[in-house]
Formats: sequence, C-alpha cells, structure tokens
Amino acid sequence: MITSICCKFAVIVRIIMHYNMRLIYLIAIGLTALVATSSAPAGGDGNTEETAVSCEGNPVIEAIMGRRSIRAYKDTPVEREKLLLIAQCGVHAPNAMNRQNWEVRIIDSPAYIARATELFLKANPNAAQRDPNFKNMFRNAPAVIAVAGKAGKFTDVDCGLLGENIMLAAYSLGLGTCCLGGAPAFIAGKPETAELYEALQLSEGYELLYMIAVGYPDEEPQAKPRDYSKIQFVEYPRL
Ligand SMILES: Cc1cc2nc3c(=O)[nH]c(=O)nc-3n(C[C@H](O)[C@H](O)[C@H](O)COP(=O)(O)O)c2cc1C
Repeated sequence: MITSICCKFAVIVRIIMHYNMRLIYLIAIGLTALVATSSAPAGGDGNTEETAVSCEGNPVIEAIMGRRSIRAYKDTPVEREKLLLIAQCGVHAPNAMNRQNWEVRIIDSPAYIARATELFLKANPNAAQRDPNFKNMFRNAPAVIAVAGKAGKFTDVDCGLLGENIMLAAYSLGLGTCCLGGAPAFIAGKPETAELYEALQLSEGYELLYMIAVGYPDEEPQAKPRDYSKIQFVEYPRL
C-alpha cells in the first residue's frame, strides 16, 4: 500500500514539472480520490473487508464489528454484577446537556419473564411455532433491560446511544444481546399487560421505548450486510 502511494506521488511530482498549476490541481485531486477509493471499503458485511486503518487488536472496533443480535441463549443466568455494570455503561453514554432523561430497569426475575411469556403466548398462540428454540418472549434471553425516556427533544437520540453502550459492554463480557422493539410494544399500553408495565415502576412522564435481551449466547449468527454507500465524504467546495 505504502509503495503504491509513493508511486502515485512520484507521478504527481513528474507532472508538476511539465504542466501549469491549474492542471496539476485537477490531477492531484483525481489521484487523491484514487488513493482513497483503492483503500476504502466498498460495501458488504463490515467484518471482512480491508480498511485503510488497521483494526487488529483494537477491542472497541472488534466489539462494534463483532456484535450481532442474538436470539438463542443458554439457560445460564447472567450475574447481577454484569447486568449492573452494562447498565452503568449505558448511562455513561453522551446525552443532550447531560439531562439523563432516561430510566433503566433490569429484569432477571424468572417469574416476570414467565408471566410475560404466558400473556404473550395467549395473545400470539403461534409465536412458539415460529421459533423452534422458543423459550420466552424476550428472544429466549434469561434477562432483559428496559429503557424508558422522558418525552422531549433528543430523548430518542440519548436513549439510542445508551442502548449501544449496553450492547457493546455486554459483548465485551461475553454476553449476547438483542434490541427489542416488539416486546415493549406488547407490554406497554394494554390492560391485559398492565401488571408487567407497572412492575417497571417508571417515573411519571417516562415512556418505555425499547428493551434489550441479555444472556449467554447459544448461537453465532453471521453479520447482516451493511450498505457502505450510505457513507459519503462531503467535498467542499464541490468538484
Ligand atoms: C429499535 C430496534 C428494534 C428492534 N426490534 C427487534 C425485535 O423486536 N425483535 C428482534 O428479533 N430484533 C429486533 N431488532 C434487532 C434488529 O433486527 C437487528 O439489529 C438488525 O437486523 C441488524 O442485525 P445485527 O444486530 O445482528 O447487526 C431491533 C433493533 C432495533 C435497533
């Protein structure tokens, strides 16, 4: 890679000696773009492609690229120390004006999970057949973390950042996670699930936004593809 960049530089120097400055400027921009595109990832799953910067041995990047949504878990309960630690990592997320307009509830009670699943199966009798490994409504996890936000500007952003912190911290401890939008939609705002919602003891004005299933993974899913064309540098002034 370094050799190839050096060669491209040598070409630029030779051109400088023969052409006027405006032409040189245009050619230099073209060559810079060539270097950038030859080293930038072109798309795909985000785990296997060469990037310009080496990520080897970088635990943060390894966690970001290696985390996957897990939907099959071992029965092993998650240690409360780990659940607490990942929730604390969550509230260390950046948040607008440090208002911390969130509330986090950790559910590891088998009784809660069993009752929620009982009600869920009553309302969705075919759910268990759709998942051959069905254990419970929280994607089969032995624990789940509920994230609630106080209505207001940036609350969704704050709570989203909190969730990724939780999931990456969990991954770093050997735990699997799955962000859940369906489970809270079932638990919130229904008379038949009021007991589950009330058990969360959310403060007034807070709304349950999503949940995160947590447990020891019992599967190793492949990365789902990511579209790197969504990422663009802003060239200014425009070429
Ligand atoms: C807001 C949100 C809601 C989600 N809801 C569910 C859900 O209800 N059930 C589920 O199995 N996965 C759910 N997911 C997980 C996504 O399906 C998953 O993140 C996506 O397919 C990418 O896969 P990956 O996490 O393995 O990279 C949700 C993710 C997000 C961010």
